[in-house]
This record gives sequence, C-alpha cells and structure tokens, in this order.
Amino acid sequence: MNILQINSSARSDGSHSTRLAGAVVDRLRATAAEPAAVAITVRDLGQTPHPELNEAALQALFTPAEQRTPEQATRVAQDDALIAELQAAHVVVLGVPMYNFGVPAALKNWIDAISRVKVTFQYTANGPEGLLQGKKIYVVLTRGGQYRNTPSDTQVPYLRTVLSFLGMTDIQFIYAEGLALGADAEQQSLASARQQIEAVMEA
Ligand SMILES: Cc1cc2nc3c(=O)[nH]c(=O)nc-3n(C[C@H](O)[C@H](O)[C@H](O)COP(=O)(O)O)c2cc1C
Repeated sequence: MNILQINSSARSDGSHSTRLAGAVVDRLRATAAEPAAVAITVRDLGQTPHPELNEAALQALFTPAEQRTPEQATRVAQDDALIAELQAAHVVVLGVPMYNFGVPAALKNWIDAISRVKVTFQYTANGPEGLLQGKKIYVVLTRGGQYRNTPSDTQVPYLRTVLSFLGMTDIQFIYAEGLALGADAEQQSLASARQQIEAVMEA
C-alpha cells in the first residue's frame, strides 16, 4: 500500500494539521494487513513550495513536449512529479489549515499542478471524468475558529468538488476547530480530532 501525505501548513514545527495528518498515516500503517509493505511518501508544500501556475507555466504546459525549451521542460517535469506521486498512491492524507477562509495557497498550487486534462481528468460525451479513481482520501482540517457545516466553510465543498472531479470521491474529513479559542478549547479540539481519526479508521 502506498500512502501519500500532503502537508500544507506554512509552519514546520507546531503545525496541528501536519501532526494530525501524521497520526492518520501512523494509524493506517499500524492497521495495514502488511505494515512492512506500506510505503509512505511525505510532501510538505510549506517547506518545499510548488511553483504557482503563472503565464510561463501555462505556456510550458501548452507547448508540445518536443518543442519545449529546457526551462519549460523543467517546469512541466515539476508538475509531472506531483502527478506521478499521486497516481501511485492508494491512500492520500491531506493536512489542511484554514487560511483566510480558504485553503493555503501552497495547497492550491498543488491542486493546479495535479489537475491536467487527459492525464488526471478528461471530457467525454457524458461529461467530465476523473482519472484518479480507486483512492481513499483523508483530509485533516485545522481552524482557529469554528465553521463546520456553516456557509463560511468554503474548504469542504471546494475540496470535495475538485477531488471528486479528479475521481477521488471516497473522502473522509477530520476536523480540529476552535484552536484559537483558548488552551482548553484547543486541547478538546485536538482530542476530538484524534477520536475522529479512530472512528473513521474503524468505519
Ligand atoms: C495566515 C493565517 C490565516 C488564518 N485564517 C484563519 C481563518 O480564516 N479562519 C480560522 O478559523 N482560522 C484561521 N487561522 C488559524 C489557523 O487555521 C490555525 O492556527 C491552524 O491551526 C493552522 O494550521 P496548522 O496548525 O497546521 O499550522 C489562520 C492562521 C494563519 C496563520
């Protein structure tokens, strides 16, 4: 089993989303039929940011491979690496802080890199079809406030939409909310998130 952990906090030390995503991975490994056969890849988009989708990147992507400059080939290869990593994964664990009511820009850059027509999705006579099927997805959401099931939670509908569009429809969301509401609330929230992890693993 290949597990891909994607971290998107800007923080290295002290990131709750990274720590909780790691807890999901630990749990997956511990309960795997063959723990020794579990391969884990960790990509930390905060520590190693992926470049944004700017005009040069678009030009590189839309230039036929054999006509690309060395710089364009290098830029496309950076996206190719993320796509290959994702294609190889059976399980994907995303650590996602809320930043200004959205997902971190670092995660958006990853989504822009992995969304490629005819590779990870395609248009058919019946509409769009995601090509990254058969994967299990866990998304750990960390927030200073509390927005679960409210219109201000733009993260969940956005992630569900874009991941499903790419074929990743089996998604479990784990919430750690109220992390900025005092030490007690923080501890309760983290304990609740760990309980949610146990619950989704047993489901
Ligand atoms: C730049 C920035 C913007 C944030 N925006 C929000 C926000 O809009 N809503 C919210 O509930 N929390 C917000 N927070 C709080 C974070 O979601 C919270 O601290 C979370 O734990 C960060 O994830 P991490 O622990 O993995 O770094 C923000 C934090 C930062 C640093």
